[in-house]
Amino acid sequence: MAPDRTPLIDGFQRRITYLRLSVTDRCDLRCQYCMPEKMQFLPRAEVLTLEELHRVALAFIARGVTKIRLTGGEPLVRRDMIDLVRALGRRIGNDDGQGHLDELTLTTNGTRLSEFADDLFAAGVRRVNVSLDTLDPVRFAELSRRDRLAQVLEGIAAAKAAGLAVKLNTVALKGVNGDEIAEIIAWAHGEGHEATLIEVMPLGEIDGERVDQYLPLTQVRAELERRWTLTEDSHRSGGPARYVRVAETGGRLGLITPLTGNFCDGCNRVRVTTTGQLYACLGGREQVDLRAAVRSADPDGALAAALTEAMTIKPHRHAFAIREKGEAPALARHMSVTGG
Ligand code: 5AD
Ligand code: SF4
Repeated sequence: MAPDRTPLIDGFQRRITYLRLSVTDRCDLRCQYCMPEKMQFLPRAEVLTLEELHRVALAFIARGVTKIRLTGGEPLVRRDMIDLVRALGRRIGNDDGQGHLDELTLTTNGTRLSEFADDLFAAGVRRVNVSLDTLDPVRFAELSRRDRLAQVLEGIAAAKAAGLAVKLNTVALKGVNGDEIAEIIAWAHGEGHEATLIEVMPLGEIDGERVDQYLPLTQVRAELERRWTLTEDSHRSGGPARYVRVAETGGRLGLITPLTGNFCDGCNRVRVTTTGQLYACLGGREQVDLRAAVRSADPDGALAAALTEAMTIKPHRHAFAIREKGEAPALARHMSVTGG
């Protein structure tokens, strides 16, 4: 039977062309704002196999998804993950009636990039997002609870050497890296990387309090503007970031502001967790079970039906808010489950 090629359009006439697919909830770091030290990871049987992940991705590609970002947890800690990259890499620019990809990318913490950078490039990846919240090794060890900054910086250098464009993601954290943000941006731009700042989102239980971490980007921007000239830039990467140019560094700076500036109107994406739950919104509870579909007697038919259903439940906007001390997080699930 010919695959279902109906475009994915939600109830607000937004066309879904971007899939964020989490390949593992595991991670070799324990960033304080992301997960507790004693994070409970999923039993392996719950997690989609490589073949299942591939099949899910192909179902999206058939329906007009042209950009896939592999995420985690940390995608590069899953041993067979490079095979998925290779398989999906074959869909880049290759429309044989089954749909094609324009871009295959990943978000990584960088600890294993030096090992994988060449393989990623060979498989067709051209850009990676690397999380980097500090350039100070002591701070890094405290923030991520692991002493790996040197490895991450080697990974970033290896990515650049392999020909991958690198975008650095920095979560703005009050009392942690607020005083270092300009330095990180200057370093990134000096190395030829793009930099993006992210507001901390209230996802999952952590060991500390979210209000103590929250640093609004409106405030960061005002501080940067005391030192630099920032001008709006109309560039769009297909994600939620809005961009400015920094005259003094000559680089581009992305701002992701789930709390101080809602970006949901132009949303073109959905997320699939490592257990095959499709979340129609990062900040919502609406979900469709793709694992049941992919493990059913008619996986392709059931997946097509599940994707159609997902379009009917995608909410208009997320409902994030940073709660007061002692209150439960806005959403119980961690970013490492849904994928960043
Ligand atoms: N709020 C904002 N960003 C987060 N990340 C992980 N947890 C959170 C959170 N609660 C970031 C990581 C990485 C990306 C995948 O998401 O730092 O850059
Ligand atoms: Fe791992 Fe990323 Fe979470 Fe840090 S933020 S613990 S690198 S998944």
